[in-house]
Amino acid sequence: MTTIIDGNAVAEEIRDGLSDAIDALDEAGVKPGLATVLMSDDPASETYVSMKQRDCEEVGIEAFDYELDPETPADELYSLVDDLNDDDEVHGILVQMPVPDHVDDRTVLRRIDPAKDVDGFHPENVGRLVAGDARFKPCTPHGVQKLLAAADVETEGADVVVVGRSDIVGKPMANLLIQKAEGGNATVTVCHSRTDDLAAKTREADIVVAAAGVPELVTGDMLSEDVVVIDVGVNRVDADNEKGYELVGDVEFESAKEKASAITPVPGGVGPMTRAMLLWNTVKAAAEAEG
Ligand code: GUN
Repeated sequence: MTTIIDGNAVAEEIRDGLSDAIDALDEAGVKPGLATVLMSDDPASETYVSMKQRDCEEVGIEAFDYELDPETPADELYSLVDDLNDDDEVHGILVQMPVPDHVDDRTVLRRIDPAKDVDGFHPENVGRLVAGDARFKPCTPHGVQKLLAAADVETEGADVVVVGRSDIVGKPMANLLIQKAEGGNATVTVCHSRTDDLAAKTREADIVVAAAGVPELVTGDMLSEDVVVIDVGVNRVDADNEKGYELVGDVEFESAKEKASAITPVPGGVGPMTRAMLLWNTVKAAAEAEG
């Protein structure tokens, strides 16, 4: 029997667990605040940001919503970030990536006060993560750790293949998995678009984390029996339905399910966890700012 790991249920538990911290802050007269900044017309980015705002409202986090026309000069984005850094009601700042080409994403990420960087993308926070002293764990890999724990998957001593080397998922995922800490102590191989023989690597894995952004890249024949499969991919592919598209992961679910002992679906796997861990980081930022 293959376990289908239910990200919605685990995310719900995480949100429930945050209520105590939010209540305690409330008693101290503090409402955690998250500012989201969207500078894109991309429908997927618009959907993600509006879901993040809705999540905030549901758990008692104040959502401050900023939308900039994609043509806005980069300086205006930087000065908005400066204002948010100075705003005491804002504990967390998230600039939705990607930003338009005329904006240098590194400059934006460096501009965010590291204490408000709930994505964990500021170089100071990346450095702290690599040094084993994370302030904010990046939301998606942190969510994957929580999912593995909830499914009783032991990472210690496991051979994990991470497919993808992005700054947002692949690199921090690999870092978390090698930490001398719970949810770590794994032996990690990071594969990417220049990996010579991806299937040879994934077949050796006890756990595969697919985060390459390539629809259905990982298929059942690339996996060993009883592997645990975590699918981070969310890809829109054309479909003959009302929306004109459907969401598929980086894993071909049906063939992978035949091999896996446990697997996350898309949607309903990693996605809800990313959003829950953003709330977690925002509450942490508020508690640290006000504590
Ligand atoms: N774009 C895709 N994923 C993310 C994320 O986790 N944070 C931000 N800021 N942008 C993203």
